[in-house]
Amino acid sequence: MASATISLSPFVIFLLLLVGIVSWHSCEAREPFACDPKDARTTGLPFCRDSLAVADRVKDLIGRLTLQEKIRLLVNNAAAVPRLGIKGYEWWSEALHGVSNVGPGTKFGGAFPGATSFPQVITTAASFNASLWEAIGRVVSDEARAMYNGGAAGLTYWSPNVNIFRDPRWGRGQETPGEDPVVAGRYAASYVRGLQGNAGHRLKVAACCKHFTAYDLDNWNGVDRFHFNAKVSKQDIEDTFDVPFKMCVKEGKVASVMCSYNQVNGVPTCADPNLLRKTIRGVWHLDGYIVSDCDSVGVYYDTQHYTSTPEEAAADAIKAGLDLDCGPFLALHTEAALKRGLLKEIDVNGALANTLNVQMRLGMFDGEPSKQPFGNLGPKDVCTPAHQELALEAARQGIVLLKNRGPSLPLSPRRHRTIAVIGPNSNVTDTMIGNYAGVACGYITPMQGIGRYARTIHQQGCTNVACTDDKLFSAAVGAARNADATVLVVGLDQSIEAEFRDRTGLLLPGRQQDLVSKVAAASRGPTILVLMSGGPIDVSFAQNDPRIGGILWAGYPGQAGGAAIADVLFGTFNPEGKLPMTWYPQDYLSNLPMTSMDMRSSRSRGYPGRTYRFYKGPVVYPFGHGLSYTKFVHTVASAPTMVAIPLAGRHAHGNTTISGKAIRVTHAKCGRISLGVDLDVKNVGSKDGSHTLLVFSKPPAGHWAPHKQLVAFEKVHVPVKAQRRVRIDIHVCKFLSVVDRSGIRRIPMGEHSLHIGDTKHSISLQAATLGVIKS
Ligand SMILES: *[C@@H]1O[C@H](CO)[C@@H](O)[C@H](O)[C@H]1NC(C)=O
Ligand SMILES: *[C@@H]1O[C@H](CO)[C@@H](O)[C@H](O)[C@H]1NC(C)=O
Ligand SMILES: *[C@@H]1O[C@H](CO)[C@@H](O)[C@H](O)[C@H]1NC(C)=O
Repeated sequence: MASATISLSPFVIFLLLLVGIVSWHSCEAREPFACDPKDARTTGLPFCRDSLAVADRVKDLIGRLTLQEKIRLLVNNAAAVPRLGIKGYEWWSEALHGVSNVGPGTKFGGAFPGATSFPQVITTAASFNASLWEAIGRVVSDEARAMYNGGAAGLTYWSPNVNIFRDPRWGRGQETPGEDPVVAGRYAASYVRGLQGNAGHRLKVAACCKHFTAYDLDNWNGVDRFHFNAKVSKQDIEDTFDVPFKMCVKEGKVASVMCSYNQVNGVPTCADPNLLRKTIRGVWHLDGYIVSDCDSVGVYYDTQHYTSTPEEAAADAIKAGLDLDCGPFLALHTEAALKRGLLKEIDVNGALANTLNVQMRLGMFDGEPSKQPFGNLGPKDVCTPAHQELALEAARQGIVLLKNRGPSLPLSPRRHRTIAVIGPNSNVTDTMIGNYAGVACGYITPMQGIGRYARTIHQQGCTNVACTDDKLFSAAVGAARNADATVLVVGLDQSIEAEFRDRTGLLLPGRQQDLVSKVAAASRGPTILVLMSGGPIDVSFAQNDPRIGGILWAGYPGQAGGAAIADVLFGTFNPEGKLPMTWYPQDYLSNLPMTSMDMRSSRSRGYPGRTYRFYKGPVVYPFGHGLSYTKFVHTVASAPTMVAIPLAGRHAHGNTTISGKAIRVTHAKCGRISLGVDLDVKNVGSKDGSHTLLVFSKPPAGHWAPHKQLVAFEKVHVPVKAQRRVRIDIHVCKFLSVVDRSGIRRIPMGEHSLHIGDTKHSISLQAATLGVIKS
C-alpha cells in the first residue's frame, strides 16, 4: 500500500481537533453504522432484520439503492446513504501484528493511545507455533473491536501479507511468514482464524490475505512494483505462489483477498478474471470480497497504460471480479463505463453483494454495537497485562539462536555482572516493531532488558544502522574492555528494508561489520552478536570469528523485544525459534535478478534457484536452523511404510496397481487417505525446552519436483529427561504431491523419503484400485 503525505493548514487542524473532540465524546458508545433502532425510516426493513439470512438482507438492500449510491460504495471511503440510515465507512484498516494506524480507518489518541505491538511477522513465524499465531490474532481482534466500539477503528483489516519471501532483498519480506508455502499457508489460516473469531459465518473482524499474486518486488534496479510484469510459470504459480492464498481462503475462511499492483504474465492482477473470478472465487470459493491495492486500478490505467480509457479500466476490474477499490478510481469512472455499455448494473450489484455480505456478517447492520457480541470491549481491553505478556512471549518464541560456540550462552548473572551493550540497535524502540505497526503500549529496549539482569555500559558504536564512520568505535572498544561480557545489537531497520525499498546486498550496512570485529577483538569476556532485521544477513564473518561466541537473530521483536532478548541471553528462556527463510551468502546475488520469478534453478543460465526447496548452493544458515540450550533426540515410533492411494471415479476401475507414475490429485480420493507418523522426542540435555519437528519430504526422483519440501511441522515442550510422543498427520494430496510443468498437481508413486532432522523414514505410495484396497 502506498501512503500520501498531506500538509494541513492551521484552519484544517482546528477543524480536525473539533471533529476529534466530538468523536471523543461519542467514544463511550459508537452510534450504529446502520439500522439504528431509533431510526423510524429503517426499522422493520428486511435488510435490518438480523433474523433473516445474510444473502436475503443483502439482496433487499441492493434493491433499494440507486445506481449513484451503489457506485459510491465501490471504494474504500464508502459514502453514506442518509436516505437509508447508512453512515459512511472507511474500509482501510491494518493489523499486521497489532492494530496499526497505517490505514486511514484507525486513529490512536484519546481513550486509545496505543495498542499491543507484537513482533513483526517474520519473527512470529520463526516460532513455528500455529496456536501462538491464532492467539495473537485473537488478541489483535479484541483490541480492534474495542477500538471500533470506541469510534477509533474499522472492522475490515487488510492483513496478513502472505506473499512468499522469494528474494532475500525484498523490503517487505519482514511482513511475511517467510519463504515456505506451507508455513505461509498455515500462518495465514491460523492468524485469520484468530482475527475473524472462528465462529461460523459471523465475523469478529474481517481479515484480508494480500497481495495476490507473485508480488514480492518493491523497487529494485529501476523496476518498481507499479510497473513490474512478473513472468511466472504455471508450475511456480501452483506449487509456490498460490499455496498460501489457497490455504488462507479454504482453511482460514478469510473474508477478503487483495490483488496486487504488478502484472502477472502481462495482465494486471486486479484486471485478471482468471485470477479473481475463476481462481479465488470459482475454485477456492471465497466467501467475501476482493479488494484492490491502493490504488492499483488507477495504477494500471495511469502508470501501466493497460487500457486506453479509464472507463475500460473500471469495467475490466469489476468484470474480472474486483469488488472494492482502495482508491477513488471506481467511484469516478464506473458510471461512465455503464453509460458506454462496457459494464452492466448487474455487475455492480455482484460486487456490492460481496462487500455487503461482509458488513452484514460483521454485525454492521444489526443496530447498536454495544448490544452485539464483542460490544462490551472497550479501552480496558487494549494493552492489558495479558496482551502485553503475549507480545513478550511471542518475541521469546521467535528469537533464533544461530551460533553458540563453547557454549558461550546463556550468560550468567553471577559471572557476568557488567555487560557492555553496544551497537546502533542496542537501545532502539520503534525499530523493534518494523513496518505496518501502530503505536505500541510501551517499549522495553535491549538495553533496558539486559539492565534487568546486570549492570550495563552503553555505547552506540555507530550513530545509526547506516554506520558511515568509525568515530564512536573507540568508545565502544573501551566499553568492551571493561565489561564481563559484550552484547552487540546491530542489523537493519526501515531505512534499509521497507515498503518501496528493496535491499541492494545482504551484508551488514556501512561499517557495522568492522565495529563488530573490532569490539569482539577487544572484548574481555564473551562477545554475543544480536541481529535485528527482517531479511537475512550474510554474517559469515561472525560465524567464522572464534571471538564471537554466540549469534542471535531477533527479527523485529516487537514492543517487548528487549526483554525477550535478555531472557534468552541469560537463559531464563530457552531459545526455540527456527529460521523461516534461508540465509544466503552475499555472492548468491551475483546472477539473481530480482525480476526473475523462477523458483527452479537453471544450470544453462547459471541461475541458482530460490529458497531451500530449489537452491542447493552454500548457505550461511539454512531454512529451519535454530539451536537450543538443551539437546533433543527424536525417533520414529510408528509410521506406515506403504500408503495406498485410492482412485476416484472411472480411474478406480482398473485392476492393477499403478507404480512409477504420478497420479493427478483430482483422480485420487483424497479424503480417504491418511498418513499418520508418531515421533518420540526426548530431552537429553539439562534444560527444559521446546522442540520443533520439521518434517520434510523428498519425493521420488523427477525433474519437476523440489528436492525437498516441508510437509508438516509441530512444536512440543519437553522437560529435562522427559519424552513426549507427537502425532503428525500428513495430508498426502496437499503435501506429498508435486506440480508438473503444466501446473497440474500430481502424487508421485513410489518411495517418498521423510526427513526429520537426521531421522529418515521411507514411505511407498501406491495407487490402488478398488480391488487392491479391499484385499
Ligand atoms: C535508552 O532508551 C530509553 C527509551 O527511549 C531512554 O529512556 C534511555 O535514556 C536510553 N538510554 C540510553 C543509555 O541511551
Ligand atoms: C483387468 O485385467 C485383465 C488382465 O490384465 C484385463 O484383461 C482386463 O481388461 C482388466 N479390466 C479392467 C476393468 O481394466
Ligand atoms: C505455543 O504458544 C502458546 C501460546 O503462547 C503456548 O501456550 C504454547 O506452550 C506454545 N507451544 C509450545 C510447544 O511451546
